[in-house]
Formats: sequence, C-alpha cells, structure tokens
Amino acid sequence: MRSSPLRRGPALTELGMGAAQLGNLYRETTDEASVAAVDAAWRAGIRYFDTAPHYGVGLSERRLGAALAGRPRAEFVVSTKVGRLLVPSPGTAHLRDDQGFAVAADPVRRWDFSRDGVLRSLAGSLDRLGLDRVDIVYLHDPDEHWEQAAGAGMRTLIELRDQGVVGAVGAGMNQAAMLTEFVRRCDVDVVMVAGRYTLLEQPAARELLPLARERGVGVVAAGVYNSGLLSAREVPDGAHYDYGPAPAPLIEKARAIARVCERHGVTLPDAAVRFPLRHPAVVCVLFGARTPQQVDGGAERHAAAIPDGLWAELAEAGLLSGR
Ligand SMILES: NC(=O)c1ccc[n+]([C@@H]2O[C@H](COP(=O)([O-])OP(=O)(O)OC[C@H]3O[C@@H](n4cnc5c(N)ncnc54)[C@H](OP(=O)(O)O)[C@@H]3O)[C@@H](O)[C@H]2O)c1
Repeated sequence: MRSSPLRRGPALTELGMGAAQLGNLYRETTDEASVAAVDAAWRAGIRYFDTAPHYGVGLSERRLGAALAGRPRAEFVVSTKVGRLLVPSPGTAHLRDDQGFAVAADPVRRWDFSRDGVLRSLAGSLDRLGLDRVDIVYLHDPDEHWEQAAGAGMRTLIELRDQGVVGAVGAGMNQAAMLTEFVRRCDVDVVMVAGRYTLLEQPAARELLPLARERGVGVVAAGVYNSGLLSAREVPDGAHYDYGPAPAPLIEKARAIARVCERHGVTLPDAAVRFPLRHPAVVCVLFGARTPQQVDGGAERHAAAIPDGLWAELAEAGLLSGR
C-alpha cells in the first residue's frame, strides 16, 4: 500500500485503522475479534493504527498492543493521544462508562493537558500498549482547553519530539476550526480531523486543508463514514452520526449521495473511503473497525475504481461543498 512521509516522524499508509471500536465503542467487541481485525488490517497492507486512552478507558490500547505484539516494530506506526488522564476509581467500578463505551467506569477520565498530565498519560499509554515508544502523539479533543493544550500540552509534546521520544506531534479533533489554529500557531507535524472532511461534509476544505498543505502538515482524515452513516451501501434509519443517532436531513443527504454513486456503478462506502484522498493535504484515510470483515470491507473500498464523473455530478447536484 502507498505511504506518505510526514515532515517529521513516520510515513503513514494511505489507509489506517482506528481502534476506538477495540475499546467497545457502543457495544462489546471480543478480544478474539480485535486480534482478527488487526490481523486482517496487516494482511491488507495497513500499517497505521490509531488509539487513545479515552477509547474504553484503556481497553483499546491494551487490545491494540496485544494484537500487534510480536510484529516487527519498525514496520508499523501507532498513534495515541493525551488530554484525558485515566485515574483509578474503584468506587465507580460497579457503574458503566457514560461516554459511549461498553466498559466499567474504572478508571475514569480527567481532563489534563498540563506537562505532568501529558507525561503521565503517555507513560500509561506505553504501559497498556506494551511498547517503549509511540510514533505520533495527538492532543485529544482540546475543544474546551485551548489555552492549556496549545500552551503547556503542545510545548511538552514538542519537547518529547525534540528528545526523540516520539516521532511526530499534532492534535486530533472532531472540528476543523481549532485544528486550523494549531496548524497556524504551533509547530505540528500532523492533524487528525474526524468527520469533518468526508463525502457527507467538508468544512475542513475551507481553511484547514489549504493551510496544512501550505505548511507541509499532514492531514489524517478520520471517521470517513461519519461514525457509521456512510458505512453501508444502503443507509439505515438508525445510522450513527457523530456518535449518536443521525438526524433525518443527514440521512436524506447520505441517501441522495448513495443514489448518485449507484448511477456511477459504485457504492456509497466505496466513495466515502476514496473521497478524502483526492485532496493533496490528506495523507491517510482512517476508518474504525471492530471485525476482520469490516477491515476487509474497508480495504476493498479503498481499492475500488471511482469514475471521475461521480465527483463532478455530486458537485453539480450541490452534494459536495469542497473538493
Ligand atoms: N478526536 C479524534 O481525534 C477522533 C475522533 C473520532 C475518531 N477518531 C479516530 O478515527 C477512527 C475512525 O472514526 P470512527 O470509528 O468514529 O468512525 P468511522 O470510521 O466513520 O465509522 C466507524 C463505524 O463504521 C462501521 N463500519 C466500519 N467498517 C464497516 C464495514 N466494512 N461495513 C459496515 N460498517 C462498517 C462500524 O460500525 P459498528 O460500530 O456498527 O460496528 C464502525 O463503528 C476512530 O476509531 C479513532 O481512531 C479520532
């Protein structure tokens, strides 16, 4: 599979696997399915894997680390994130996590982008992953924490990068505007924009992608199914969008896009996986998967040939706002 180097740190395969699902996002994923999903990704040539402490309060990192164990370390790239420090909480272990993951509420997350918080978070991640280094560290969802994240948090990541402890640094968010500020004001190598540069919507096309391109900052387009809405050939009524039930107008829009895709002999998810790669700032498309079948599906979609006429017709129909 093609890969592109970041300006510092590793090269990323064009297709990456997101491991939020290995942390029991929405529902349980088994240990066996997690290993099989990573095996399938490896067979498909995927060498970039993304995780975070947030995903199942550590479960995703543990499962990803176990599934990658024994493979040549130089051959794969792992990113994790900082900002939510995991804190032991035996008193809430009888409760369920309230942030979308099917796990017990122990440990719990505490926002912390301080130097100490970043260092402790990364140490915990390495421990759970069973690795002595990660290749990329992102500030994770600092929407309400700009000052601390862009200040102490980013300074700490840059210090770790300068020391060679991590290869590349950046931020990962569900919005484009603050990521644009990170690219404008901080010395980042890569940003992960989730759900905001997809076949369904392209707010990142206005400022983030042109600026990232100009500065040589790599963009990882994550959540290319918009958390589920674009993941099936036919859009079901109960599809997910941004980790909740999709609003009716977006279901209608996804179905309208699917009809155009069909006229061009491709499926909605084929086009969803291919679309972000058309932009020169995008180095990698990252989809979330919990089973080998979903991974294989993603790899097949990535290999699909898309006629150019599809993009033109979507644009003419007003269904694409960005390139
Ligand atoms: N702030 C951030 O930095 C941030 C935010 C969001 C995501 N991310 C990263 O990006 C990754 C991807 O985002 P995401 O998982 O939220 O959204 P996504 O990739 O848009 O959608 C993933 C969902 O699509 C479904 N799916 C995947 N492959 C499929 C297939 N072949 N056939 C049918 N359905 C399929 C699965 O649904 P089911 O759940 O029903 O199995 C899966 O949960 C995450 O895992 C994470 O690593 C980062």
